[in-house]
Amino acid sequence: MTRATWRTRVGFVLAAVGSAVGLGNIWRFPWLTAQNGGGAFLLLYLLVVVLVGVPGLLGEMVIGRRSGRNPVGAFGTLGGDRWRPLGGLALFASVVVLSFYSVVGGWILRYTVASATGAYFPAPQEYFAAIDYGVGAAGFHALFLLATAAVVYVGVDRGIEVATTVMVPGIVLMLGGLAVWAGTLDGATGGYEFYLSLDLAYLRANFFDVLGAAAGQALFTLSVGAGAMLTYASYLGEDRSLAADGTLIAGLNTGIGVLAGLVIFPLLFSLGVDPGAGGPGALFISLAGAFASLPYSRLVGIAFFGVVLLAALSSSISIYEVLVSYLVDEHGASRGGATAAVGTLFLVTGTGAALSPSLFTLLADTIANLALTAGLLGFLLFDGWVLGRLALEEYELGAGRIATLAGRPWFVAIAVILPLFLAFTFVTGIGGVVGVTPTAGQSSAIAVAVVGGCIALFSRRSRA
Ligand code: TRP
Repeated sequence: MTRATWRTRVGFVLAAVGSAVGLGNIWRFPWLTAQNGGGAFLLLYLLVVVLVGVPGLLGEMVIGRRSGRNPVGAFGTLGGDRWRPLGGLALFASVVVLSFYSVVGGWILRYTVASATGAYFPAPQEYFAAIDYGVGAAGFHALFLLATAAVVYVGVDRGIEVATTVMVPGIVLMLGGLAVWAGTLDGATGGYEFYLSLDLAYLRANFFDVLGAAAGQALFTLSVGAGAMLTYASYLGEDRSLAADGTLIAGLNTGIGVLAGLVIFPLLFSLGVDPGAGGPGALFISLAGAFASLPYSRLVGIAFFGVVLLAALSSSISIYEVLVSYLVDEHGASRGGATAAVGTLFLVTGTGAALSPSLFTLLADTIANLALTAGLLGFLLFDGWVLGRLALEEYELGAGRIATLAGRPWFVAIAVILPLFLAFTFVTGIGGVVGVTPTAGQSSAIAVAVVGGCIALFSRRSRA
């Protein structure tokens, strides 16, 4: 059987943008921004997207296109069987991400439906508190999962490509309209101040926490570190500039994320909701309350949550596809069988997250950040020290003049500098989990040791 490929350039870019744009931009980004000091977080996040996210995304896509395989098969084909566990790390990260993602997808689905009756209008805060976890949440999570499975089952070119080509432009229009409207509300200025002004004292006091959260969110929003972009790039021909596509994907995604903030923060402040107190519910409470005060509030609610639902679906399919492509490529499963098996797995893990708030938050915040960071760290060290020159060659295939000039600096960045950065944020993140806070000096020392050790190991093994 020949492997599917994207039908058009626009189709691939939109599918990848569809993967990137999702609950990460509209739900997780405002939540974490509020939790990490507003503008301070925004600044670090933007820096990390440009300096780490984009080169990292290219590093991941290089592996996918070069191998034309799922993550496990990709490392196996390119490096030999002993590298397959590196792909296993990507599968693990995918499981972590989709397990809570589909719970939030279920919330969105429920709000889309509830908009028809206006059920959440009278008491938005209480409504969210009543539906966030429990049997109902598990049920809606299962429905969301089913919708994801349906698109994945239909396949890459007919299912994913067609669906995302419609979804992405819809999201941009809807958010743009809402941002303009939100700007007209009383109290909107307070929201812009929180979102766009930089509190240097806060940043200085919490620098490494904010940096870690910003780094995790930058990877999350670009769908990097779990093999989703690797898998999408594996369906790509050799004639395309990865650098151009990657920059375009990241640019569109970041624009949409910032736009979502311009909707949410003015809304929160005009409602008098403390952004830091909202937690994972911030989006639902603020928007739901705002819609209630609008004319045609039910229609607005259906349209908004409907669009977010599409954005969430176009992301969840990219994670689901990682595991399906693994079962199809490596174990000769049929697409239908693989889709069913993966669905069963997520039914179990997602139900756990839907029933337990503490499990949900642990997965959505800490573990997701750590898993994606570790995943990308592995990908980049593989590029730099196992593929070596081949990675640069693959990058240059189809790249234009400017992108080719950037090739060498890119390679140095992904082989050495970014791994040090990722190892550093990983160490600080682990420190947070186990409750010890290493000093910056200690974290740096550990990071240098880890990366140095990996480089020694990777370059010896690849020659052996
Ligand atoms: N980037 C998506 C979002 O912002 C979520 C997502 C899709 C993702 N695929 C991923 C996150 C792979 C991490 C890894 O909603």
